[in-house]
Parts: sequence; C-alpha cells; structure tokens
Amino acid sequence: ERRRTIFSGIQPTGIPHLGNYFGALQNWVQLQNDAMPGDNLIFSIVGLHALTMPQDPKVLLRERSEMMATLLAIGLDPERCTIFHQDQVSQHAELAWILNCITPFGKLNRMTTWKSKIATSRNSGSESDVDESQLSLGLFAYPVLQAADILLYKATHVPVGEDQVQHLELSRDIADIFNRSYKKRFFPAPQHIITPTKRVLSLRDPSQKMSKSAPNLNSRILITDTPEEVESKIKRAVTDGERTLNYDPIHRPGVSNLLSMLSAMAPTVPELIGGVVEKQDPASLAELINHRFGGSGSHLKKMVTEAIVETLRPIQAELGRLKSDPGHLDKCQEMGRSKAAEMAESTMRQVRKLVGI
Ligand code: ADP
Ligand code: NA
Repeated sequence: ERRRTIFSGIQPTGIPHLGNYFGALQNWVQLQNDAMPGDNLIFSIVGLHALTMPQDPKVLLRERSEMMATLLAIGLDPERCTIFHQDQVSQHAELAWILNCITPFGKLNRMTTWKSKIATSRNSGSESDVDESQLSLGLFAYPVLQAADILLYKATHVPVGEDQVQHLELSRDIADIFNRSYKKRFFPAPQHIITPTKRVLSLRDPSQKMSKSAPNLNSRILITDTPEEVESKIKRAVTDGERTLNYDPIHRPGVSNLLSMLSAMAPTVPELIGGVVEKQDPASLAELINHRFGGSGSHLKKMVTEAIVETLRPIQAELGRLKSDPGHLDKCQEMGRSKAAEMAESTMRQVRKLVGI
C-alpha cells in the first residue's frame, strides 16, 4: 500500500457558509477521522490566493485568524493534521515561481475560472466592479500557485469540489512537465478525491450554488448564524407548492436542495429523522418524511432548521472558547507552520538542485 499525502486548501476570505462546510470542510474532518496509518494530512489557509483580488489588509488579517479558529472548531486536530497558513511558508511562493517558468501561457488561458472572470469583467451591464485591465498577473497564475501548494508536499490525493477539477488536471500537467524536464517520477501525479456531498444551492435562487459572493444574505447560511437567523433564512428558502416531497433536483431544485442538506446532516442528528440512520440518501429521506410526517414542505423546513442548529451548536461553542484563548490559537498556528515548513524545505532543497540554483 502506497502512503497517501492528502492536501487541501481554503481561502481565508469571508465566513464559511454551509456550502463550504458540506462541500469541503466537513469532508476534511471525515478524512482525518477515517485516516489510515501512514496518511499525511495537510490543510492550508491560502492567504496568497486571497491576494489575487483586492483585500482590506486589516480585514484579511482578522479573517486569516478566524479561519484558523474555524478549522479547529469543526474538529480538525493539529496533532493529527498539519493545519497552517500558506503565506507563512515562503517555499510556496518560491516553488510557484519555478512552476510559472515551465507552465505554458496557453494552458492558463484555457482555465474556465479565468475565462469567467474575463467574461464578467467584459459584461458592462453586470454588477461586477472588476475591470479586465485591472485583473492581475497573480489572478492569471492562481492555478499555478495551487499546483505549487500541492506539489510542495508531493501530495498524492487532493479533495476538491467539481469546480476545481480542471485546476487539479493542470497540477498534474505541471508535475508531468517538471518530471520530464528534470527527474522522472519526482512529483507524484495528484489524484482527486471528489467530495461526496452534492453542491449546496442558494436558498433564494436554487438555480445558483450557495456562494460567498451573492449579494442577498438570505441566500446562504453562515456557520456563525444564530438559531434565529437559521430559522428565518430556511423559512424564506424558495421551494414549491406541491403536497408531497420527492427528490428531483431538475424539477424541484429548492426542495431537493433542502433534502440533500438534511441528508448531509443525518449522521450528526439521526434522532431528527426518527433514528433511521441507514436511510440517509435524499430520496429515502423524502419517502420517510412523506410516510411519517405527511410530507409537508414546512415540516421539511423545520427538520432542516433543527438539524442545522444542532450541527452548528458545537462548532459555535468551540469558536467562542477559542476566541477567549488566543494563546492556544497562536500555539496551533506555530505548530502548523513549523511542520509545514520542514516538509516544504525538504522538497525545495531537491527542487533547487534539480533546476540548478
Ligand atoms: P465561494 O464559492 O462561496 O467563494 P470558495 O470558492 O472559497 O467558496 O470555495 C471553498 C470550498 O468550498 C471549495 O472546495 C468549493 O468547492 C466549496 N464550495 C463552495 N461553494 C459550495 C457550494 N455551494 N456547495 C458545495 N461546495 C461548495
Ligand atoms: Na468560488
């Protein structure tokens, strides 16, 4: 059995919403809890990526530290994983530069995230305040920095959402170009681990994903929302007027979104679905609610609200505790930084030699 090195990163900008939690963060905790002996788990807060868009320095500094607190509060253990700030390990920037120098411009030009930023900036009727000529070289090179993050630890597995699969393919391409130029099989080709949870949709417009950037605050639930805020946002969630529930993401996206959120929380709060933990998929949950509770949409909303409140309760309690203990947060940050820096420098010593610097 080959040992796994699992790497994933998250930007520090903004408070995570339930999409980030179910789509990424919860899965990290799962990977930690299911880890096999010899697995090396590395989770990074990628401040250098945040700098590809304009940021208020004071806000960014605060958000970086809040994200560290969040990763600990959701249950990541700094003894079992390396949890660190990418921007505190300068080898990321160094490897990114070396990879920039072997990455074909044309490959980056074809990245859909870049193309969509360009498209947004060209669409003058949109709400976008991004002007194409202001898009930075850093934003263009964003996926190369991601490749550096992954390859610096010779990661073999990368949990990513579907929106990031193309970037991971680029990381594999870059690893391959490096290996062909300098040393066969130096960087392993990183495989993706697709997050099992379905994409969480906007509560106000279920044709869109739940997102940090949507202007309507009622469209997303933040992991720091109070029970009252959760209740009010779920109450306003767009559903439909049908009398029974069924899971049909195409025709009933609003209802299906609530069902799939409930399904993601079923292991955490089995009593809310009558203790039937073996039936966690959204379609079975719909049948169960029809059967036991008359299938009403308002009952579904009540269950979803309770499940979210119960899911967030321990996270919020831990966040509060961490806030009152900044010394502990500092200690965890330093532990993560030093573990990451040691691995990173070990790779970079070899890389510098291979490229001749
Ligand atoms: P946002 O799109 O809100 O700006 P990010 O791009 O920072 O969020 O995403 C951070 C992580 O959360 C990524 O792994 C991404 O795939 C995941 N993610 C973001 N939004 C959702 C969503 N609505 N449903 C599932 N996963 C999501
Ligand atoms: Na995004």
